Amino acid sequence: MTNSRIGKAQLGMDGPEVGVQGLGCMGMNFAYGPTDGEEARATLERALELGVTLYDTADLYGHGENERFLAPFFKAHRDEVIIATKFALTVSPEDPTRRIIRNDAQYIRQAVEASLRRLDVDVIDLYYMHRRDVNIPIEETVGVMAELVGEGKVKQLGLSEVTGAELRAAQTVHPIAAVQTEWSLFSRDIEISVVQAARELGVTLVPYSPLGRGFLTGSFTNADNELTDDDFRRQQPRFTGDNAKANAALLEPIRAVAEAHRASLGQVALAWVHQQTQIHGLPVVPIPGTRRRSRVEENTAATRIHLTEADLAGLEPIASKVAGDRYADMNFAAASRE
Ligand SMILES: NC(=O)c1ccc[n+]([C@@H]2O[C@H](COP(=O)([O-])OP(=O)(O)OC[C@H]3O[C@@H](n4cnc5c(N)ncnc54)[C@H](OP(=O)(O)O)[C@@H]3O)[C@@H](O)[C@H]2O)c1
Repeated sequence: MTNSRIGKAQLGMDGPEVGVQGLGCMGMNFAYGPTDGEEARATLERALELGVTLYDTADLYGHGENERFLAPFFKAHRDEVIIATKFALTVSPEDPTRRIIRNDAQYIRQAVEASLRRLDVDVIDLYYMHRRDVNIPIEETVGVMAELVGEGKVKQLGLSEVTGAELRAAQTVHPIAAVQTEWSLFSRDIEISVVQAARELGVTLVPYSPLGRGFLTGSFTNADNELTDDDFRRQQPRFTGDNAKANAALLEPIRAVAEAHRASLGQVALAWVHQQTQIHGLPVVPIPGTRRRSRVEENTAATRIHLTEADLAGLEPIASKVAGDRYADMNFAAASRE
């Protein structure tokens, strides 16, 4: 396995450079079934050796446990890493299975203090609004986030799952460094309006679930019988029943490109996301999630694969054929407001 470090990209108009691929840390103790903590910690270190500097978490993940898990790694490498965390998604006190979106000032102030405490840092490098509460003007929410920058609690601001119009409105209040939204061979609604707005405004795109939550790697093809009961993907329309069967057939063109490049399916999926930088002319820093060293090596190596025009043409039709929505409740995706 090569020790080549990945390239770099800029985070926002005047922001720092980060490794062109970040690491999604959510699965390290949340959402995707059982985890080996030791291997997850070793994965963080291996990622850093390979040039990964943007580490993604959220207060939602394990209700704070994910931030606590990452804190010792961040402490050991504070000057080398960019810590990204998020606020806005919480659970209903009456029904823990129901998610609530909070964008109000009181909640944001409470959330940032709690994240700073759990992460055990003085400042968060990149603070995202995780989801938008449509009852509160986005300018108001970003206004509160901007106050956190002024107070030195946060360095840069990000938004997750917003439309292009919402991004433009937010940017009138304070520069937005990054928009985080799902973007992969399976999920391309970001291309409706967000990509163009981000390019015009100098915003970096941070695609989440670039491996289609693992589906695009071919390592599971039906959540019903291949994933544990507590795996979040069992509640998602694309991963179960007839949809999963139909979607598994969509991996064939990816397999063909992978064979031609002597690469894995996941590497082709990631190379496609990385190549959107050249296609759309803006920085794109995907954050594939893994808790295994071998996979962070495989995933970072995908930054060195260049897909040909013919490869891209073969992959182009996939997204339009995907069966099932991204979320069981599409109110959690910005596309529902496009
Ligand atoms: N803003 C948001 O609303 C939002 C939503 C979802 C996720 N996120 C962020 O985005 C990050 C990435 O998204 P994601 O984790 O949902 O999806 P993903 O990166 O598309 O896929 C992660 C899944 O793929 C598996 N995997 C990773 N590399 C692999 C490889 N080379 N071969 C085979 N399987 C591989 C992982 O398993 P192992 O861990 O076992 O390797 C995991 O099950 C998250 O960690 C989180 O930080 C943000």
